Amino acid sequence: MFSNFHTAVVGSINMDMILRMNKVPDAGENLLGTSYGYANGGKGANQAVGLARLGAPTKLIGKVADDENGRKLLKNLQGNNIDISGVSTKGSQTGLAAIILDANGNNRIVVYEGANAEIDADEAASQITDDLDLLLLQFETSEDVVIKCVNTAVSKGITTVVDCGPAKEFNLENMQGATIITPNESETKALTGIYPDSEESILEASQILMTRSKAEYIVLKLGSRGCSVWDGNKLTLLPAYKSNVVDTTAAGDCFTAAMALEYLRSGDILSACDMGNKAGSISVSRMGADASMPDVSDILNFNKN
Ligand code: ATP
Ligand code: RIB
Repeated sequence: MFSNFHTAVVGSINMDMILRMNKVPDAGENLLGTSYGYANGGKGANQAVGLARLGAPTKLIGKVADDENGRKLLKNLQGNNIDISGVSTKGSQTGLAAIILDANGNNRIVVYEGANAEIDADEAASQITDDLDLLLLQFETSEDVVIKCVNTAVSKGITTVVDCGPAKEFNLENMQGATIITPNESETKALTGIYPDSEESILEASQILMTRSKAEYIVLKLGSRGCSVWDGNKLTLLPAYKSNVVDTTAAGDCFTAAMALEYLRSGDILSACDMGNKAGSISVSRMGADASMPDVSDILNFNKN
């Protein structure tokens, strides 16, 4: 379905430490967890796995350290058929995410960027080659890396999709003309000052994002409410598919990868977002970050509830 498309991701690679608990502690409170474990993560790596699971040849451009976590993460990426020739191992320490997960599957994440913050913008941009059909980026590397790589990809006519996680202020004016910009609710608030909790606020935030970035489409990820699409003329809301939620970690990464690939295949942003909603719904029903990413058969067999 997607095997003819050459894709690349510029982004972060983290070891995720996941601690499960019934309720997250308040400030000063000390509670017992119920279990913990380690998982492969990082927004860039998760999105690369999301693309590769759907059958697209995928290259990851990023940085780890030559340490135990770095070696484990690279082995996992190779096991997912991802080309890691663009991943440098010269970082100071591999990125780490501490994730606390409550009984409802809601997470809170703190990331130590380590090597991800040390990616060289020129080096990353030099790996964006003319043969690429799609480039995905997130905000878990430096602003300089994102800006240089988006502008390089756009100037080469590559379909360029920017996932705006994690939430932070960002100079969108320096990153012009991407194909799709896709923040979640808190990222939308960080970028525009508007929390998208009503049709009016979704529209207002989407218009601001389009004016600032000159992107072709603004797709807001709205968690259990699904997503919205603004094409400059029309706002469309696409409700989420019902899901048995166990862990929302990386739902956004999964949505972005699936949505971007389907847009590349069909050129239809609504069909792309429908596919993103299906993939996101599958992801939240499974534990882990990259482990929760669906493959093509999961998507084709997906039943509407
Ligand atoms: P994360 O940061 O946890 O990776 P996110 O906050 O970036 O995720 P969300 O908006 O929470 O992204 O979720 C992405 C997509 O996953 C949504 O647009 C929706 O399609 C799907 N999704 C998320 N939560 C649910 C849910 N409770 N039920 C069904 N689908 C969901
Ligand atoms: O989007 C989910 C990811 O965010 C996790 O895998 C974690 O590494 C953080 O980067």
